Amino acid sequence: MRDYPCIVVAPPGPKARAVVARDATWASTCYIKEYPLVVSRARGAMVEDVDGNRFLDFMGGIAVASTGHCHPTVVAAIKEAADRFLHICGSDFYYEGMAALCERLATLAPGTSKKRVFLTNSGTEAVEGAIKLARYATRRPALIAFKGAFHGRTYGAMSLTSSKVKQRAGFGPLLPGVFHVPYATCFRCEYGRSFPDCRLFCVSAIEDDLFGRLVDPKDVAALFVEPVLGEGGYVVPPPDYLPALRALCDKHGILLVCDEVQCGIGRTGKMFATQHAGIEPDILVTAKGLGSGMPIGAIIAREAITTWERGAHGSTFGGNPVCCAAALATLDLVEAEFQQNAAVMGKRLLEGLRCLAQTHAVIGDVRGLGLMIGIELVKDRETREPAPELASALVQTTFRQGLLLLGAGKSTVRLAPPLVIDGYDVDTALNIIGACLEKLAQ
Ligand SMILES: Cc1ncc(COP(=O)(O)O)c(C=O)c1O
Repeated sequence: MRDYPCIVVAPPGPKARAVVARDATWASTCYIKEYPLVVSRARGAMVEDVDGNRFLDFMGGIAVASTGHCHPTVVAAIKEAADRFLHICGSDFYYEGMAALCERLATLAPGTSKKRVFLTNSGTEAVEGAIKLARYATRRPALIAFKGAFHGRTYGAMSLTSSKVKQRAGFGPLLPGVFHVPYATCFRCEYGRSFPDCRLFCVSAIEDDLFGRLVDPKDVAALFVEPVLGEGGYVVPPPDYLPALRALCDKHGILLVCDEVQCGIGRTGKMFATQHAGIEPDILVTAKGLGSGMPIGAIIAREAITTWERGAHGSTFGGNPVCCAAALATLDLVEAEFQQNAAVMGKRLLEGLRCLAQTHAVIGDVRGLGLMIGIELVKDRETREPAPELASALVQTTFRQGLLLLGAGKSTVRLAPPLVIDGYDVDTALNIIGACLEKLAQ
């Protein structure tokens, strides 16, 4: 028996309330704060709050805690690196960890071409750099991204983002020359079609509609795509989707950029989600799970397009030595064990949720790849009308029962646990979700 989840005082307890009040007074007003979880320590898939409540973590610090919280191998690597030196600036000087991580990511990335790697502090910085590299390499200005996509909060990345209007409102003008097209969101196809009869109409529409009316493909530098849509609702596109986008890009000399900030590093059961589709992107960006919680991201680009000159791009902290050590330890663990575990546990979780869907009509769709799973809640299965209030009520209710979840998109609850979870964790989460759905139905 595990000693978690275990709620000893209804959260937020007194110590949590004090931290929440202090934060509310001093922290900037833009923070979201999904629920009043005030963490004191965490191990594996267990998160303990300041009042002694222990939660089962099925959101992984937003898909970051790939190797679980504080995996001893990762912590040892961090301590060992921190003991040697904390910083020297990898943009200007050398150290082994940075060279080793660039080599490792270049060889792990999908496809056979030689790659080169630029290390960043975050996902948005990786996307920002990818925009710059794509424009630099092609000398073309325009960019294509998808409706519902999330690529980050800095200006270039935000201009590609179209997940929620709140993320853009009040910040304009954004980057010019960005065109948004519908993603392969088959459960809610914007074209009213259904797969496979549609024969990927959403891809041919880019050619026929976007290139026919709005932008000459010769002006397009890159198409940015999440191989599994993350913040936009955990949507897994049909298997032919990425190959069709690859073919479209090849036809017009457009670079294909796969944003694996959320879906990369073993989360979908393979090191990179793009590998399920068997294609090679021109640029792959990743972050989140790469450092098991330490801030590090990467732009992995084909050598042939890595044309930017010395000094054209850089970063003071990007590829920090302690973060590189965390990333190398993370990649060892994910490659050896956790990506396979994500595939096996993901299947068990998906099956369990599909069983729950048989008794809960509010579950409109259950979809996922590995441990990146979404439950889309609806008011009515026939009309598929979204149920955003129910999705947020489910997240709040499970929190109070000791299970950490998060929303995504309009009415989806996402499950993105650490990749270390076992069958007991999966069954515990399923029991709590089932019980909370019962409670909300009353
Ligand atoms: C697909 C994707 N790209 C980019 C980002 C931005 O990453 P960060 O928050 O590290 O800047 C995110 C964050 O959620 C993401 O999910």
